[in-house]
Amino acid sequence: MDKVAIVTGAGRGIGRGIAFRLAKDGLDVVVNDIDAENVNQVSQELKSLGSNTMAIVADVSNEKEVYAMVDQVVEKYGKLDVMVANAGIAKVKLAIEMTASEWDEIFAINCRGVFLCDQAAAKQMIKQKNGKIINCASVAAHSGFNLLAAYSATKFAVRGFTQALAKELGPSGITVNAYCPGIVGTDMWDLIDEKIGPYLNLPKGEVLKKYSELITLGRVQTPDDVACFVSYLASSDSDYMTGQSVMIDGGIVMS
Ligand SMILES: NC(=O)c1ccc[n+]([C@@H]2O[C@H](COP(=O)([O-])OP(=O)(O)OC[C@H]3O[C@@H](n4cnc5c(N)ncnc54)[C@H](O)[C@@H]3O)[C@@H](O)[C@H]2O)c1
Repeated sequence: MDKVAIVTGAGRGIGRGIAFRLAKDGLDVVVNDIDAENVNQVSQELKSLGSNTMAIVADVSNEKEVYAMVDQVVEKYGKLDVMVANAGIAKVKLAIEMTASEWDEIFAINCRGVFLCDQAAAKQMIKQKNGKIINCASVAAHSGFNLLAAYSATKFAVRGFTQALAKELGPSGITVNAYCPGIVGTDMWDLIDEKIGPYLNLPKGEVLKKYSELITLGRVQTPDDVACFVSYLASSDSDYMTGQSVMIDGGIVMS
């Protein structure tokens, strides 16, 4: 029986790349996003490649919607093997300019969203006595970035949660790990480039160019670069790894 995976925020960007990679690996992929048009588009494309997929529009920060998503998956496939809590947003601002509601909004999606998806998945996986929970962190989970203070704080939180949850769920046969991308050429980075530009007095495109100089491997990352590592975390090859937040960043952060 094929493994079943949920990928959140899979309507575009890194999540979309992960959905295609896991489908190629032979998993049945449930595509989640808050954007109905994109989520249906990705699901249609996966179907046309022969994947037994399903599209679920849900907001990862909404407890009822997350639990309903996991219930729907278990109803259709009878199990849930892999949860990829990928959905996230960025907010570019000096910490002293950020409002409390902006702070709450980014934490709602990047942290509460990961917590809810992991919790709902774990309750099902405990019954099965196996499962893989894979969270999206970032290089910003290992090193705080200026103008991305709240974002960095959410990703440090994901890293801490990943470690603690791994300890709680290890005895139930469930592994919990995180992937930490660097600079991936997605809509999120378009936004970061546009919003950081005025602070650094740089025109559009130049922030990405400047930050790309930090990349040891000399090129901007693609969603596929991330997806191949998530493929490993979703496979039995990673069965002895848990509690890790691993950098897959072309060598931006080394420690
Ligand atoms: N792009 C990068 O350089 C980079 C680097 C490190 C980590 N990340 C992380 O990777 C993940 C994906 O980023 P991306 O670059 O693909 O971003 P993106 O903005 O291109 O895509 C994010 C997707 O998440 C969806 N989403 C947003 N809020 C949601 C919600 N409440 N519920 C469900 N879906 C929601 C969006 O609709 C979108 O389709 C994020 O967690 C991000 O923090 C990105």
